[in-house]
Amino acid sequence: MKGIILHGGHGTRLRPLTHTGPKQLLPIANKPMSQYALEDFREAGITDIGIIIGDVYPEKVKEYYGNGENFGVKITYIYQDKPKGISHAIKLCKDFVGKEKFIVYLGDNILRKGLIDYKKNFESSSIDAMILLCKVDDPSRFGIAEINSNSNAIEKIIEKPKEPKSDLAVIGVYFLTPKIFDVIDVLKPSARGELEITEALQLLMNNGNSIKYETVTGWWKDTGTPEDILHANQLVLDSIGKENQFVIDKDAIIKNNIVIGNNSEISTDSHLEGPLIIGNNCKVGSGVRLGPNVSVGNNTVLENCHIDNSILMENCEISSNVHLSSSIIANGSKIEANNETHDTYQLLLGERSQLKI
Ligand code: G1P
Repeated sequence: MKGIILHGGHGTRLRPLTHTGPKQLLPIANKPMSQYALEDFREAGITDIGIIIGDVYPEKVKEYYGNGENFGVKITYIYQDKPKGISHAIKLCKDFVGKEKFIVYLGDNILRKGLIDYKKNFESSSIDAMILLCKVDDPSRFGIAEINSNSNAIEKIIEKPKEPKSDLAVIGVYFLTPKIFDVIDVLKPSARGELEITEALQLLMNNGNSIKYETVTGWWKDTGTPEDILHANQLVLDSIGKENQFVIDKDAIIKNNIVIGNNSEISTDSHLEGPLIIGNNCKVGSGVRLGPNVSVGNNTVLENCHIDNSILMENCEISSNVHLSSSIIANGSKIEANNETHDTYQLLLGERSQLKI
């Protein structure tokens, strides 16, 4: 069975973070979010993986994943010129997939439980497609499935209904057979100009094909907004030390729920509160309070600051008395304070930002 990771899209709701790279490479607990999908595939025994790259810095995706050998998989890149929808991206994979069953995983989705059991069930069944459903508070943000209360079968699959009749979101992991290509061929672009996967699935059902679902146990996160990214970071960090799947770096020191990378220096008068991850070659200087729910990327230097519920990426420097909370600071950014300030800041800084407070 082959796996496909969707790595395109513009990530407009994540600007300025996505001005300098695709959203799926933004780190969650110091690992690009799409790497969770890739590792889920690998754990489930799927090592032949297609990555659909788009028009936002596709070369950065190729540079990071290469041919896949560093990640124990084989990668084929497939280029989608514009974000024309999930079904359009799937259509581009027809030759790559051939006649086999396959799984499509949106690179901005993170699934706690991985794929192993779902994949086994799908592989041994004769159904034409399988979707995963997860109960959500805000169903109008997602594709939704309506389930018949008597038969327990899927009745309808609708993309982002204004007045949802169900709170079961169709998550971004789809178990498919080549039958999907026939229905995609007759799809028309939706109001947002995309070939929707939900419409393809509905059409598959209308044509008499069998679609089953499983309900996700554990959490699932779609990381469309900065708040979602911080929440995903918190959820992944929360599993440190408990879930092998999310232990980030095997060489790092892992103490309870704090991970400290190689060559990182932690001052004895700093205060660390997990869950927390600190990358390689970092300096956590005196008077620093870090955590809970903080990820600090490689080569980042911190002095005299207090940071909670935040993501600091690589090569950042924070040397001030500020308190950062619910912030995302992209690579190479620098924050200095001229005066001692006791205010709390919530910042969203793009790459190489410089801030004097
Ligand atoms: C896409 C799908 C939607 C699905 C969601 C899951 O939405 O169209 O059906 O529920 O992914 O993440 P989009 O992220 O394009 O808004």
